[in-house]
Amino acid sequence: MRIIILQGDITTRTVDAIVNAANSSLLGGGGVDGAIHRAAGPELLAACRGLRETDLPHGLAPGAAVATPGFRLPARWVIHTVGPNRHVGQTNPALLVSCFSESLRLADSLGAASVAFPAVGGGVYGWHVRQVAEAAYDAVTGFGASYPASALELAEFVLFSPEVEQAFKTVFDQRGV
Ligand code: APR
Repeated sequence: MRIIILQGDITTRTVDAIVNAANSSLLGGGGVDGAIHRAAGPELLAACRGLRETDLPHGLAPGAAVATPGFRLPARWVIHTVGPNRHVGQTNPALLVSCFSESLRLADSLGAASVAFPAVGGGVYGWHVRQVAEAAYDAVTGFGASYPASALELAEFVLFSPEVEQAFKTVFDQRGV
């Protein structure tokens, strides 16, 4: 799987699926969650409400992932994942790895060939960007080993600032990607 690390706005990425750093309610919020809902249009919130009324009555657990259509976004799907919130004691980095790995697995099961990630957990939920980059790296390399025949051929990490982009590049370069 090809990996691209870039600075940009994830809502503009023309990939098959973009990943949303959501919260357990799935009913929107600030940060990248707010940006994705604004760009996707009100149909996205309606689809998330539908999930809460059916499959996810208690919301989405940290580290889990669920897909909806992308509606007005260039991306066909939005994969919503919930980062562990350090401010409420969710400090297990394995949950952060799970956000990335469950999103990759879901993208694969949807038949996506390309997926874009923001720095899940790296904003409101309080994770240091290096920890996010390390979790992302572990998930991508683990996915490649577990799903060698996947049709998923591109993973983008779309970061909102030069500092975060550089942190990701440093971690991935140091680990040999
Ligand atoms: N494109 C790419 N990255 C973005 C964008 C965007 N349009 N907007 C923000 N970001 C970046 C932030 O700068 C940060 O580096 O996404 C990263 C994740 O930050 P948050 O969006 O705060 O996500 P998170 O830390 O996982 O917290 C999730 O915040 O917005 C609420 O509803 C959300 O409650 C949830 C919590």
